[in-house]
Parts: sequence; C-alpha cells; structure tokens
Amino acid sequence: MTSSRPCAACSVPEAASVPEVPLDEVEAAVRWALESGDDTALRILGYGEISLVIGWPTERPVVACKRLPPFSSRFAAETYGERFTEYLDVLSARGVEPVPSSFHIVASEAGVVAYVTQPVLEAATLGPEVLRRARPDPPRAAPRSPPSSSACSSRSSPP
Ligand SMILES: Nc1ncnc2c1ncn2[C@@H]1O[C@H](COP(=O)(O)OP(=O)(O)O)[C@@H](O)[C@H]1O
Ligand SMILES: [Mg+2]
Repeated sequence: MTSSRPCAACSVPEAASVPEVPLDEVEAAVRWALESGDDTALRILGYGEISLVIGWPTERPVVACKRLPPFSSRFAAETYGERFTEYLDVLSARGVEPVPSSFHIVASEAGVVAYVTQPVLEAATLGPEVLRRARPDPPRAAPRSPPSSSACSSRSSPP
C-alpha cells in the first residue's frame, strides 16, 4: 500500500484502492448475528485466527471486511491502526507488496471495534489453496555419513 489518505472517521491513513464500505451497516449485521445466533444475513468469507471476514455487499462481495477483536480504547485502536499501516509500508519498501488494506474504527455497542478492508481475492490465490496445489520439494540426498572407522565398528559390535 503506497498511496494513502486519512480515513474520514479516524486519523489513521487509508489505502485509496479499497472501495468504501458502510462499515456501520456491517457492524450492525455482525451485532445482530452475535446477539441472535443467526448469521444468515452475513456473507462470511472466512474465520481467521484473529478476525471474522465478511464479504460486502452481501449479494456480490467485492470487499472483504476483517473484524478485529474489540479494543480496550479508541487510543489503542488508533495506535494499532498506525502500526498496521507502518508495517505494510515497511513490507512494501522491502519488496513484499501487501494486498491493499485499509484500517477503520467503527462505533459499536460492543465497544471500540475496528475493521481492515481489502479487495475480495479469488480463493485460488489465497495461501491455503496455493499450498494445497503445491508439490512437495523433491527429496534431497541425505548428507553422507563419515566413513566408519575401526574404532566405531568395534564399539558397535556385541561384546
Ligand atoms: N481479501 C480476502 N478475500 C477473500 N477471502 C479472504 C480475504 N481475506 C481473508 N479471507 C478469508 O478469510 C480467512 C481468514 O482470513 P485471515 O486473513 O487468515 O484472518 P486472520 O488474520 O484473522 O487469521 C482466509 O482463510 C480466507 O478464507
Ligand atoms: Mg489467518
């Protein structure tokens, strides 16, 4: 993520290349699902180790909205957002181009909630699928063991 502009809702820079999403609506739908136990109104793209990933718009998702666990304060969320953006910039500077990603803080009854938004990616391009298709590396020859000396062979012989 190289070009960025400030997010309208918070001071954290935002990637220009991720379409805007009404995250208030996404969060309201998530809250409803959490309270009712009914997630049928959500288009869930995946469950990560950290985030719940929701596709938006529901009928034909173009943006993946990654809901992070609630933060203890707005300051904590803003600090996380700044570090996250810095981290992506460092990756870019080192030649690892991350998926365009944009950090947003959303007001929620759950407290301070933040989302990372990204373009929806083809499932076939995601890491698990890439690994599933990959072939194992060809076996390498085992390192040759040093020639056995008479001392070794006599030690391994039964008394
Ligand atoms: N940009 C995306 N487009 C489509 N699906 C995604 C995207 N990001 C995440 N997912 C789906 O959500 C799952 C969890 O996402 P991941 O980034 O691994 O979350 P976490 O960082 O919380 O582990 C992925 O395995 C994938 O199925
Ligand atoms: Mg993951």
